[in-house]
Amino acid sequence: MSTEVQQDQFAATHLPFEAAGLKFHNPCVVGSGPTVKTVGMIRQIDEAGWGAACLKLSFDPEPYISREPRYKWWKKEKLHSFTAEKRITVDEALRLADFARKNTKTTKWFSNITYCGDKGIDGWVNMAKRFEGAGIHGNELNMCCPNMSFNKQATDHYVNQRTGASMCECTDTVADIVREVRKGTKVPLCVKISPEWGNLGALSVACFEAGADFVASVGNRLGVPPIDIENPEQGPYDLQKEPSISCLSGPWLKPLALKDTYAISSAVAANKLEEKLKRRCYIVGYGGMATWQDYVQMNLMGADMIGVCTETMLRGYAYLAQELTRMKKWMAEKEEKGNG
Ligand SMILES: Cc1cc2nc3c(=O)[nH]c(=O)nc-3n(C[C@H](O)[C@H](O)[C@H](O)COP(=O)(O)O)c2cc1C
Repeated sequence: MSTEVQQDQFAATHLPFEAAGLKFHNPCVVGSGPTVKTVGMIRQIDEAGWGAACLKLSFDPEPYISREPRYKWWKKEKLHSFTAEKRITVDEALRLADFARKNTKTTKWFSNITYCGDKGIDGWVNMAKRFEGAGIHGNELNMCCPNMSFNKQATDHYVNQRTGASMCECTDTVADIVREVRKGTKVPLCVKISPEWGNLGALSVACFEAGADFVASVGNRLGVPPIDIENPEQGPYDLQKEPSISCLSGPWLKPLALKDTYAISSAVAANKLEEKLKRRCYIVGYGGMATWQDYVQMNLMGADMIGVCTETMLRGYAYLAQELTRMKKWMAEKEEKGNG
C-alpha cells in the first residue's frame, strides 16, 4: 500500500476505543482463524487498520489435530462450513507474535491458545506466559472450537481428552483455568466460549469473576451442511468422501450470534457484575458480521467489540474502511438529528 492510501485507510478506520488498559484504533477484531496465520496477513491486517486480531490457534503439545483445509462456501445460503484445517505450532505462533509487535503500528495482537497435555492448569498458565513473553498485547483462551473433541461428543462418542468447545461443559474447570492464567500473567485476558452447551450466561459470569477482561462469544455452531441428494455419499469437501458434521459460520449465523451476545450481556447485567467487580466486563461478539449494520446490531445486543472471521476470508481486510466510513456517517447524521 502507498503511504497516501495507508493514511486514508488509517483515518477511515479511526474509531478509538479503550478497554482493559489497551487503546484500540477501533473495536473491530479479526478473529482467530485462517486469515491470521502468516507474516503477510499480519502486515495486511495492520495496514487495513483493524483494531485487534487474534493469531490462529496453537496447541501445546503439538501436533494435535492438523489436516489440509476442508472448507466450503455456500453462496446461496451465505454459509461457510469446514471440518478440518491446518493449525500452527506454538513456535510458529510465538514467532508471529514477535513479528507483529516489531513490525506493526495499529493493530493490537492476541494469542489464541489451547493446552491439551498432561500438566493440566499449569500447562495453560505456561503457554499464556510464553505468549506474554513474546510481547502479545493480550491472551485469548480457546474454549470454543467445535472441531476438536466436541464434534465427537455431539454424536455420542466417548472422549478422553476435552478441548475447545468441550471445555464449556464444565463451568468450574473453565473458571479454574481462567483464575490461574489471570494470576500468572499481567496482559489482558480474553476467554472465547462456545454456545453449544446452552450455558453462555453462567459461563461468562464465571469467567469475568475469575479475572477475564473480555469474554468472546465464538458464534459458530456444529451442523450438517446441505447434502447433494442425487449423490449423498459424496460430501461437500474434496478430501472427505462423505457428508459430515461441520463447523458453520458466516452471515446465516447472525440471528443466533446476536442471541449469544444478548445471553452474555444480560447475565452480566442481571448479576450486577460490573458494580460487584468494580470494572468493566467487555464482550466481543462474533458470528456472521458482514456489514456495518451488523456491527450496530451486535452492539445493541451488548457487544463492546465486533469479531469477524468468515467475511475476511471472502473479502480480505481493506473493506473495513468502507464499512466504518459508512457507520461513522450514519452516527454523525443521528447525532445531528439529536438521536445519537
Ligand atoms: C475456517 C475457520 C477457522 C477458525 N479457526 C479458529 C481458531 O483457530 N480459533 C478460534 O478461536 N476461532 C476460530 N474460528 C472461529 C472464528 O474466529 C469466529 O468466531 C466464527 O467463525 C464466527 O464468526 P464468523 O461468522 O465471522 O466467521 C474459525 C472459523 C473458521 C471459519
